[in-house]
Amino acid sequence: MKKILVTGGLGFIGSHTVVELQNEGFEVVIIDNLSNSSEEVLGGIVAITGKKPIFEKMDLRDKASVTAFFAKHSDLEGVIHFAASKAVGESVENPLLYYENNLGVLVYILQELQKKGNANFIFSSSCTVYGQADEMPITESAPVKAAESPYGNTKQVGEEIIKDTCKVNPQLAAIALRYFNPVGAHPTVEIGELPIGVPQNLLPFITQTGIGLREQLSVFGDDYPTEDGTCIRDYIHVVDVAKAHVSALQRLLTGENQSNYEVFNLGTGKGSSVLEVIQSFERVSGEKLNYRIAPRREGDVIQAYADTQKANEVLGWKAASSLDDAVKSAWEWEQKIRKADKEPSV
Ligand code: WQD
Repeated sequence: MKKILVTGGLGFIGSHTVVELQNEGFEVVIIDNLSNSSEEVLGGIVAITGKKPIFEKMDLRDKASVTAFFAKHSDLEGVIHFAASKAVGESVENPLLYYENNLGVLVYILQELQKKGNANFIFSSSCTVYGQADEMPITESAPVKAAESPYGNTKQVGEEIIKDTCKVNPQLAAIALRYFNPVGAHPTVEIGELPIGVPQNLLPFITQTGIGLREQLSVFGDDYPTEDGTCIRDYIHVVDVAKAHVSALQRLLTGENQSNYEVFNLGTGKGSSVLEVIQSFERVSGEKLNYRIAPRREGDVIQAYADTQKANEVLGWKAASSLDDAVKSAWEWEQKIRKADKEPSV
């Protein structure tokens, strides 16, 4: 079995990707520092696949630990790198945490891959690199715009670091995957999103409002130049995002890549407004959502949705789930974890 390292493999997208890797017969090693996840997620993965990944709790900011890990696992055939801090607001308040955790760690991992012979690397990037793109849908050749936050900057600079490293290391092959808005949970409701504290993202805030954990959803602005005045995003089921990582890894393992640094957008190609997501929730849950129109949120782009042609035709991957499928899976997951919270622990 080919052994793959998944950093941040107990996180939201990471854990769903571990499941898809195991489904495809890969052996998975997870590194996670549990700063934004919990070891219980391992149990969820095993419940789905019946296979327990190797898990090593580690802070990747410790360069010596990273070196020791790669010496111990010299048989790794690929690395999928999710481990990073991702809260836009937090990055503004604590930029150095983001530059150290998102870029310092990336350098340490690339230094280890540079020492190996052939190496395959998948990077978790984001549509944030486009800022407010001029044209919709957004293609991979859309210009990268000045980042609006240190978080966004770490994705842009991260891509540049990888591109520059691949230029002088022909034996290193990398793919950057630019996610649009991953949402939802695994259909088995064994794993899903576990936001810590008050959710920053729309869908977990909606489901927490639906379950009664939050009083009311604030819709950040309805005076944008869109059909219903609210911002538009490309919400993509997290399982579709996970499957795209396996497709990208297989592309590198089979040498189908056209260059040793490639970029793909991961989206559905369909934009949905905030109000449309609320309507989707009400449709799939049968519940009215309590929300109010609030002032705009600083830094929000008006609209962002993906041109999926390159991912569909070159990567050979296409999102299969609809917005309702994703919202329904998120709602089922929310109901399950809150039910578990309420049950007295034995
Ligand atoms: C979506 C829409 C909000 C919450 C961010 C990061 C991006 C990626 C995904 C990591 C916006 C509106 C939200 C709420 C609202 N993260 N909203 N009320 O901002 O598109 O992307 O998360 O890679 O990098 O920037 O996602 O879910 O925060 O917001 O009205 O309580 O929902 O204004 O229009 P976003 P989001």
